[in-house]
Amino acid sequence: MHQIRLRVNGREHELTVEARRTLADMLRHDLGYTGTHLGCEHGICGACTVLVDGGPVRSCLMFGVQADGTEVSTVEGLAAGEELSDLQQAFSDHHALQCGFCTPGFLMLAEAYLAEQVSAAAEDPAREDPAEADVRELVASNLCRCTGYQGIVEAVLATGRSRRRAAGP
Ligand code: FES
Ligand code: FES
Repeated sequence: MHQIRLRVNGREHELTVEARRTLADMLRHDLGYTGTHLGCEHGICGACTVLVDGGPVRSCLMFGVQADGTEVSTVEGLAAGEELSDLQQAFSDHHALQCGFCTPGFLMLAEAYLAEQVSAAAEDPAREDPAEADVRELVASNLCRCTGYQGIVEAVLATGRSRRRAAGP
């Protein structure tokens, strides 16, 4: 058993966790962040994607103890109370989900991508917005069995455009 500390969605947690407990199980069962979903549990589907220090990870492939000292972001941290984040709203507007099982993983994957795009555009204002092909390649890492990917791609592109506009020239 290991005692660890981490922040999840800005909130400090200290807990004792078994060495073999995955980050996904620790988030869901020990800390109550059940928005992180488990599909395949072996790194294929991406449903369990969360951000660790800003980067997307498949939380079924990482041990909870490895998150000691990190900042983890889960889908619960996106909305402000009842108000959806811009990306969540775009998923709704573009019909990017049906059952929603895969959605937390897609949202967190896209959050990391969009943050990277905004900071790259800040460094290089002449940089073009991501092309549809880039976003298709991104979302190919996660599996959705319901919607097809068109709505997801459109939602990510639309959010990227509006965040870039909001960040200024
Ligand atoms: S549950 Fe982690 S990749 Fe499928
Ligand atoms: S919305 Fe059902 S699996 Fe993606």
